[in-house]
Amino acid sequence: MRVGVLTGGGDCPGLNAVIRAVVRRGTEEFGYEFVGFRDGWRGPLEGDTVPLDVQAVRGILPRGGTILGSSRTNPLAESASQGSRSGVERIKDNLSGLGVDALVVTGGEDTLGVATRLHGEGLQVVGVPKTIDNDLGATDYTFGFDTAVNIAMEAIDRLHTTAESHHRALICEVMGRHAGWIALHAGLAGGANVILIPEKPFSIEKVCAYVEHRFQTRYAPIVVVAEGATPQEEDVQVADQRLDAFGHVRLGGIGQTLADEIEKRTGKEARCTVLGHVQRGGTPTAYDRVLATRFGIHAIGAVHDGDFGTMVALRGTDIVRVPLAEATRELKTVPPERYAEAEVFFG
Ligand code: F6P
Repeated sequence: MRVGVLTGGGDCPGLNAVIRAVVRRGTEEFGYEFVGFRDGWRGPLEGDTVPLDVQAVRGILPRGGTILGSSRTNPLAESASQGSRSGVERIKDNLSGLGVDALVVTGGEDTLGVATRLHGEGLQVVGVPKTIDNDLGATDYTFGFDTAVNIAMEAIDRLHTTAESHHRALICEVMGRHAGWIALHAGLAGGANVILIPEKPFSIEKVCAYVEHRFQTRYAPIVVVAEGATPQEEDVQVADQRLDAFGHVRLGGIGQTLADEIEKRTGKEARCTVLGHVQRGGTPTAYDRVLATRFGIHAIGAVHDGDFGTMVALRGTDIVRVPLAEATRELKTVPPERYAEAEVFFG
């Protein structure tokens, strides 16, 4: 058996641990050969490969990023036109030309959405969930999330001390496109004054009231805001309008908008720190290394069992297999009752 491996979408800490586990178990236990595809779906689309054997995965467990590279290439956006094949046809031709029998695809909703479609077209695919946002419905946790939360928490801890010294409001913008899990966990762990998430549009007036209350009690407020959070006030412009290949707006900017509004409305100095890609880089936590390794072990196990069209998922402490279609059907957003727990500490 010859197995192709790719990592697509936004990278996240733990991808290399998945690749290593897939290759180690696949080679040593099942005697498989591997082919690495470069840069997500661009690799199979263009037949761009990289050698992948046990030697190639030595020493990569603690390394951030992905040795295979990643991209947001969407092969489904390439339809057939006169004289040219569709993205799906090109992938099929390239895989058969390379003698690849099965694919292990690690990605989030977009990358796995493509995997679901290709499985429907007859390809033998097993999925592994990944996203720092932790917003895939079919799994309790994705690897990368714990690392991102710890990076954001450490930043919030540091912001507290400088905010106190200067009696400033500091706004910390974290990642989280549709779901506020990073903001919620990092904000709770870091003792934020208020946490703002995409699931619940917020009132700038109310945020300002929390900020003022915190100053009255002689503390400096820290506001944690997810990049996808939006104000209820419709006239406040926040997002950059550029789109990626999957049609997502490039986010970023809500933190600065909020700082400007807080300063204008309260008269207190407010400054913004955008953590951005710092949350996605660097070495994974122990939790993420272990989860990613377990996903890799079970993904190649699914290939060995011929259980294609599935994705490995964490349920409680067990790794289970779920249909790929289920994996991308629903986003896992922060439920109101979980947000209410955090609201106890606002103001
Ligand atoms: O989906 C993961 C994520 O990190 C989001 O939190 C964020 O909105 C997006 O990726 C950023 O993507 P890019 O790296 O392409 O700017």
